[in-house]
Amino acid sequence: MIGVSLSPQPSALSRQFVIPASFIQDLLNRVDIVDVIERYVKLRRAGANYVACCPFHSEKTPSFTVSQAKQFYHCFGCGAHGTAVGFMIEYAGIGFIEAVKDLAQSAGMQVPEIRNEQPRGKTEEGDDLYEIMLKAARYYRRQLKDAPRAIEYLKKRGLSGDIAGEFGIGYAPDGWQNLQAAYPDYHAKALLAAGLVIENDEGKRYDRFRDRVMFPIVDPRGHIIGFGGRVIDQGEPKYLNSPETTLFEKGRELYGLYQGRRAIREAGRAIVVEGYMDVVALAQSGIGYAVATLGTATTPTHVQKLLRQTEEIVFCFDGDKAGRGAAWRALENSLEQLIDGKQLSFLFLPEGEDPDTYVRKLGKDAFEKLLPNALPLSHFMLQSLSANVDLNSSEGRARMLQEARPLVKRISAPLLAMMVRKQLAQMTGISQQELDREFQIRSGAAMPAPRRAPPPQQQSIVRLLIELLMLHPEFASLADRSVLDAAAGASAINQSEFKTLKALLAAAASGATIVNWPEFFRDSVHEELLLQIEPGLLKRHEEGWSKDELSAEFRGGWSQLIRQIQLGEHVEKLKNQGLSEHDMESLRALQQHRQIEK
Ligand code: UTP
Ligand code: MN
Repeated sequence: MIGVSLSPQPSALSRQFVIPASFIQDLLNRVDIVDVIERYVKLRRAGANYVACCPFHSEKTPSFTVSQAKQFYHCFGCGAHGTAVGFMIEYAGIGFIEAVKDLAQSAGMQVPEIRNEQPRGKTEEGDDLYEIMLKAARYYRRQLKDAPRAIEYLKKRGLSGDIAGEFGIGYAPDGWQNLQAAYPDYHAKALLAAGLVIENDEGKRYDRFRDRVMFPIVDPRGHIIGFGGRVIDQGEPKYLNSPETTLFEKGRELYGLYQGRRAIREAGRAIVVEGYMDVVALAQSGIGYAVATLGTATTPTHVQKLLRQTEEIVFCFDGDKAGRGAAWRALENSLEQLIDGKQLSFLFLPEGEDPDTYVRKLGKDAFEKLLPNALPLSHFMLQSLSANVDLNSSEGRARMLQEARPLVKRISAPLLAMMVRKQLAQMTGISQQELDREFQIRSGAAMPAPRRAPPPQQQSIVRLLIELLMLHPEFASLADRSVLDAAAGASAINQSEFKTLKALLAAAASGATIVNWPEFFRDSVHEELLLQIEPGLLKRHEEGWSKDELSAEFRGGWSQLIRQIQLGEHVEKLKNQGLSEHDMESLRALQQHRQIEK
């Protein structure tokens, strides 16, 4: 099977029918549960409530109670309980959506479907940009077959037909309006919105990509969202990329991530390289776990995306000045994403080499042998900082401290941050206590840490897991619940969220088929949190996440949770092993600081 499927894919939304949570709430406010149940079961008034013999189990004396005030039914005999929607599902044996539709109809309400909103990838005119990109990719792919010059070029660069197929590599022929052959309406707005054509001042259109080898850029769901086009041999610019469109945001996407997911999981690491050809050449030589940024610096989003999927990231850059610069930017943009237990490191190739040339010359094994030599992020950071100053002079050491301070304060992994500060104190010949005092006093008012980009919105791991479980309760089987007991006192974990997670896991593991979680936990301490999380859940529906992706995310989130728990234990241990009160204090402060930021 080829990696980039060029056959039509259902676009993100057409698969899903989603009803906004707010609508369910409105609906439940509008209908009266007593009316609903009375359609099926004869109710008798008993004080404030109504009672009946339970329709869900056989009994002689009524233990089925309906509360009009709470809009809720409960059977004291069999434990059945729920709202009007829940009753319809249980009693009529229909699905959630049908139940909602049925009730909405009786209440004279129109069910909104998110599907009817403007979905991602659709233009105002209703054209599907994903489909347009796919069409272009198929067209370029067909053209490659008739382009001996392009084929020759790819062969010269060592690529097999299989690898070219896996990455969907194609060719945009020379000429101004070739895409007319692929699109009956070459003047549709959508072609412009997709970035495939350019319009000049007189409104005349022409193809953006001409006489270039085409690399489709694929999002994690397998949709083609952009292209990189390389000139054959010489010419400027060497690579021409799709402009940013509603589908394509360079700072978020990684070339090769879709094709490399499996290899990344298997290897337990991802390599970040600079070029399309580096990714493809590494894959050709059997290293499938490389991804590339798209001609931009590595962003916090890139790092965050990768850390969700793997424990280890190796940034692999050229050994020249530009490579060092790119590495430093990657370091800066990683600091706020760091997690204790995950490893980021930097590998510099000999000058004049890039991963493509290196692996083609020396092969897979030689390349993989370099990986253990990669500089851990903390080494790279301290080494670079000290390279700029003279550590033999007080001025030099002071300068180093000054430059290190904003960086160190941005490190989001508390243990690593502490280690770096220890080392920094050693290198500059002050005590750690002095260093910490210095760093904290000057923080805030006098010298705020510069922030290049706001850290991406981070959701707590526990919430993430809850959200995923609500979507797929069967993920509960992926989690070993026995480890959770240790987390009961862990300071880094929000205990009330944590309790809800435990309740959810227990309910899901019991095999109950629960369609509507907030309803299941109605009137319990968990209800509010679940209602808060539900909108996020809808977003995932909307974005069309596949179950595989979600399960990978669940696994990732789970191991992160375990690490947080272990970190808590680790801190306890360190304390017992004589970590000073001062160390402990700063560690706690850091952890707290981080929680406040969230
Ligand atoms: P390089 O110039 O290092 O390219 O650019 P490379 O991957 O080694 O290319 P080959 O081996 O000569 O084919 C690295 C990346 O920077 C972006 C592209 O994403 C490219 O893969 N780039 C480079 C551009 O966007 N435009 C350019 O003109 C050059
Ligand atoms: Mn190259």
